Amino acid sequence: MLAYLALTLCLGVAMANNNLRVAYEWREIDFKYESYDQRWQAIEAGSFKPANVIPYGLEVYRSRLFITLPRWRAGVPATLAYLDLNDTSTQTPALTPFLNWQSQSLSEENPELVSTFRVRADRCGRLWVLDSRISSVLEQTKLYGPAQLLIYDLHNDNLLRRHVFPAEQMKQNSFFANLAVEGHDCENTYAYAADLGSPGLVVYSWRDQESWRVQHHFFHPDPMAGNFSINGIEFQWDDGLYGLALSKPETSGFSTLYFHPLTSSMEFSVNTSVLRNKTLATSGQIYREFKVLGSRGTNGQAGAQFLDQETGVLFYTLPNMNAVDCWKTSDGMYTEKQRGRVYMDDKTMVFPSDIKVDDKHNLWVLSNQLQEYIYDELYPGSVNFRILTGSVQEAIKNTACDTKAKPFPELINKLGDILNPVTNTKAAGSGPRSAASTYSLSAALISCLLLFARLA
Ligand SMILES: *[C@@H]1O[C@H](CO)[C@@H](O)[C@H](O)[C@H]1NC(C)=O
Ligand SMILES: *[C@@H]1O[C@H](CO)[C@@H](O)[C@H](O)[C@H]1NC(C)=O
Ligand SMILES: *[C@@H]1O[C@H](CO)[C@@H](O)[C@H](O)[C@H]1NC(C)=O
Ligand SMILES: *[C@@H]1O[C@H](CO)[C@@H](O)[C@H](O)[C@H]1NC(C)=O
Repeated sequence: MLAYLALTLCLGVAMANNNLRVAYEWREIDFKYESYDQRWQAIEAGSFKPANVIPYGLEVYRSRLFITLPRWRAGVPATLAYLDLNDTSTQTPALTPFLNWQSQSLSEENPELVSTFRVRADRCGRLWVLDSRISSVLEQTKLYGPAQLLIYDLHNDNLLRRHVFPAEQMKQNSFFANLAVEGHDCENTYAYAADLGSPGLVVYSWRDQESWRVQHHFFHPDPMAGNFSINGIEFQWDDGLYGLALSKPETSGFSTLYFHPLTSSMEFSVNTSVLRNKTLATSGQIYREFKVLGSRGTNGQAGAQFLDQETGVLFYTLPNMNAVDCWKTSDGMYTEKQRGRVYMDDKTMVFPSDIKVDDKHNLWVLSNQLQEYIYDELYPGSVNFRILTGSVQEAIKNTACDTKAKPFPELINKLGDILNPVTNTKAAGSGPRSAASTYSLSAALISCLLLFARLA
């Protein structure tokens, strides 16, 4: 019996969890135009260039799945759109612009939306949209003004508020691409916007209708972590503050904000009571209030992250590994043993760009081959973009983040020890990725079989 369980566990661990299924996939993104002619005219006029459209962020609210589409190049007709989750007739749905075509138009005098990266729906039914307001960064960069937050009422899709960041909160090279919303109190909600270009954090108070900018060394990129290598494309990035995730509020009413720069393998945290006090947050007194959690090691640069409030599990993407990992925050220690691999695949998880958990406890991940889009060219003949989903419980099953009781904790730890060197070998591997994977998989299986033989 013990041996059988060990073998089952072995297979589970060795194969990585991969308990997510592809819900949607696209070769190229298409939109729902009012008519066939309008779509054709948009293509003729160059306002819709399918090859230039890439999905980047996602959010699920009731039956709508929102997708952000940054305007990195010309020909992106809408920067925020959605698909209808109720429509199960296709895995490749055309997207509907949010709110409408007019709110997406760049020919308006003061466009409502220019180039959005992240959206977040709070439990009060508001959609928070972070707009960098910079278009065509990969062609001829155009600035439309400081970055802004737009807040829509999802009950009737009205624009509730538009907060343009004050000029003094924008720095040279500022670029806002990540957002977290602390919205358990609808009247006293805070939004946190990460500046990756000039490392900093802008905190917005819904009640006070004002924002302030927080500085900290931990927001800066690590110069030693700039190497990226994804499916044969190598490049260097030096991006600062990026992934943000908020814990469930404590009895004090405050949460923990977990964060990391993109160019870094480190994870940090800070109590939101520090950020929400404008006087304190903008003073030099906050240095010691920020905590270092630990490092993810080689190739451990993480992108977007999200914390499932029910289980307290933090999910984060690992672009250099074509993977999604998790960490059970309740365990406190950010060691390798305390973190788990949710999903890893060299085909379906190439550049995991965003990750969320909806209010039905489903995990959602968007992968978009961003490195191909930026440094090469997406091949329109193959699937380039995928949205994967699965329940949180299934996603973390048999990983270090599993919140259900573990039958044999020592056994799992032992396996972790056996497998850890293997993971490192893969991470540091210099050969082709597929060879490295095969090696790690077979090594893991051999380790498991040895363990199995001893127990049997
Ligand atoms: C989607 O389906 C749910 C029930 O499954 C229903 O409550 C909701 O109104 C539907 N939404 C739309 C937009 O049709
Ligand atoms: C980055 O990668 C290059 C080879 O691609 C290597 O020579 C260099 O040492 C790496 N730098 C760091 C800091 O790891
Ligand atoms: C966060 O700060 C609040 C207010 O100072 C405090 O009550 C709470 O215990 C702090 N939480 C943590 C985890 O330190
Ligand atoms: C905010 O921080 C300042 C400076 O540390 C402190 O004097 C003040 O009491 C704090 N305000 C609140 C509401 O906690």
